[in-house]
Formats: sequence, structure tokens, C-alpha cells
Amino acid sequence: MRTEILRADSGDLLKICERAAAVWEAGGLVAFPTETVYGLGADGLSETAASRIYAAKNRPSDNPLILHIGRKEDLAPLVRVVPGSAEKLMDAFWPGPLTMVLPKADIVPFETTGGLSTVAVRMPSHPVANALLKSTRVPIAAPSANLSGRPSPTRAAHVIEDMDGRIDLIVDGGDVGIGLESTIVDLSGEIPVLLRPGYITREMLSEVLGEVLMDPAVTKDAIIHRVEVSGTPKAPGMKYRHYAPKAPLTVVYGDPVRTAERISSLADERTAVIAPEEHIHLYTRGHVLPMGRLSDPESVARDLYDVLRTCDAINASRIYAEDFTEADMGGAVMNRLLKAAGGNYVSEEELNRGGCGK
Ligand code: TXA
Ligand code: MG
Repeated sequence: MRTEILRADSGDLLKICERAAAVWEAGGLVAFPTETVYGLGADGLSETAASRIYAAKNRPSDNPLILHIGRKEDLAPLVRVVPGSAEKLMDAFWPGPLTMVLPKADIVPFETTGGLSTVAVRMPSHPVANALLKSTRVPIAAPSANLSGRPSPTRAAHVIEDMDGRIDLIVDGGDVGIGLESTIVDLSGEIPVLLRPGYITREMLSEVLGEVLMDPAVTKDAIIHRVEVSGTPKAPGMKYRHYAPKAPLTVVYGDPVRTAERISSLADERTAVIAPEEHIHLYTRGHVLPMGRLSDPESVARDLYDVLRTCDAINASRIYAEDFTEADMGGAVMNRLLKAAGGNYVSEEELNRGGCGK
């Protein structure tokens, strides 16, 4: 299949919207930018279109998709009820990087929800995503536009790397703003549960809703100790080894100067080292990749997936990453980084003793 690539800044967004809508109506696949990561969209009410997404990504079909809508009023037909909690969150955070899980209406096929009786819905704020979604009559099922197991795409070049020849159209909207997938909150039970941390933090949700629980499977402890907390995580996607670079990755915590010394002493030219810009000068060996600034957790989020892809591109055989703050959206950054590391999290002293985690 030949993949068409259209640049959204070429001025003719209307034409691009018409083209995307035509592809979607024919059951095809269109990758497009959102404020979080690039999505791989198809008609979310069509079983065959959903199955094409799974095939293009090599994604297990029990991993449900998020439906993307262009208007708040598009939510009601997709769910059994719109609870007061959802109304409040829509007012506070939509359009924006928040996905809500609610009991699904009958029109949403089980192919889209991975067999679940709930459905995940979000309304992106990215102007290109919003225009595309408004130009079509159906909700668009869109996972991140990467091959399953690869880091999510934060720029069109990443999408082209993974999807060229596998999908109909890629809309190039430049680099995304946030760089991590949306926050997911489950509103189908009595108390809201945070299923995936993101730009909208648990504290921000609590300010609107009061008590918000955290799915035990997404806590730092669960990822590090790889504990089976309460059976499977509630967001099925969180059980897969996600966001993974090809080489083994270890996250190292402790005093920055000693951390840099120890990593430098172990590194060779095929070792990738991930550190904030402020610490780059502390390293004497290895292929050092800056990942945002300590003073700005959002810059770290924006760089994370690109840096993980660079580790593959330079053919790293070993990767060490510094520990990053968990303040604000740092919690979501560490969630993704530790998952990419498969839970390998060691202190600089332990690293010196030859330990590199599990
Ligand atoms: O920011 C985002 O959400 C991006 C952009 C493209 O919008 N999309 C995205 O989709 O991250 P994906 O497919 O990579 O991740 C969807 C996550 C998975 O972890 C999946 O298990 C969870 O959402 N999910 C979807 N439907 C669910 C449901 N009914 N109940 C619980 N979790 C659900
Ligand atoms: Mg994904």
C-alpha cells in the first residue's frame, strides 16, 4: 500500500479534512497529530476498520481503543449514561488530554473495546485533530500511531518510520505539544479510578471530583517490583511491555554527580545515557542524550519518546537513564520510563556493585 503524506501547515486544512474523511468513510486508516501523541485513526463504529488498526500496529486485539470525538455532544450517543462526574470533567478538561471510560452504548462494537462493556472516549484539543474529527460523522478509534511495543510517536517522522506502507494517509502536523498519552480515568464505578497517568494529574482530577483512586497496577511500586497487584490492570494496554527501546534500559537514582561517575565508568561507545540537560556535562563517556530540563518537567515529557527512539536509531546495546522528578507531570514521565525499563530501577551504589536491576 502506498501511504499518502499531507502537511497540515500547507494551508489547505479543509482539503486535508475532506481527504481524511473520505479515507475514514471507506474504512481506511489515517494517522494524525493530537496534543498528546500521534494517533492512528479509523471508523470507531466499524468492526472491519477496527481490525485494520490492530493489523497495522501488530496489536493484540484484546487491547481496547480510545474513541476520539470533535464535539462534547458526540459523547452521549456512545455511552449508556453521561454521569455528573463526566459532565464536570468535560467542563474542566475538554477539549484536552483526558480520556474517560464509561459503560458503552450498543452502537460501539466489541472489536473497538477489546471485548469490554465499557468504552474510552476523548476529545483532543489539537486544532488539526479537532478539524479532522469535526469533518467526519463517526467517532474515530485511534491508538497511538506506533507499531505495538515501540515508543509512541511525537512527530510525523516517527509515524512514517513505523507506518509507511501500512496505512492510507499520514497528516503531518509537526511535533506534538505534550508528548505523553492522555490521562485515563474510569468513571464506570462508584469512585473514579485513574488508569493511566498523564498531563492531567490525579490532583487536578481530585480538585474537580473529590476522591480519585489509583489503579494499583500503575503505581511506581507495582512497576518496579512487577507485582501482580490485583490481577490484570484495568486499562488492558498497561499490561504490555510498552514504550520499549530495543536495548535493556536501567533507571538509576541517587546523587547526580556520583550517578554520572558510575554510569560513565561502565559506558562504552554503544551505551546510551539519558539525562536532563543540566547534567549532561557530568558525563565523560557514552552516547549522552539530553531529555528536557530539570527545571521544566513538561520539556522532559516532550523529549521522552524521541530519546527512546534515538536509542534504537544509534543501535545502543545498553541504556542508562537518570531518575526524574515525579512532581506535576513527572509522575507520568516516570511511569513511562520505568515501564520502558521493565521495572529496572537501581541506586547508583547498587550499580557500582555490579547490579543492574532484575
Ligand atoms: O493520548 C492518547 O490517548 C493517544 C492519542 C492518539 O489520543 N491514544 C492512545 O491510545 O494512547 P492507545 O491505544 O495507545 O492507548 C489506549 C489505552 C490502552 O492502555 C487501553 O487499554 C486503554 O486505553 N483503554 C481503552 N479502552 C478502555 C476501556 N474500556 N477500559 C479501560 N481501559 C481502556
Ligand atoms: Mg499506545
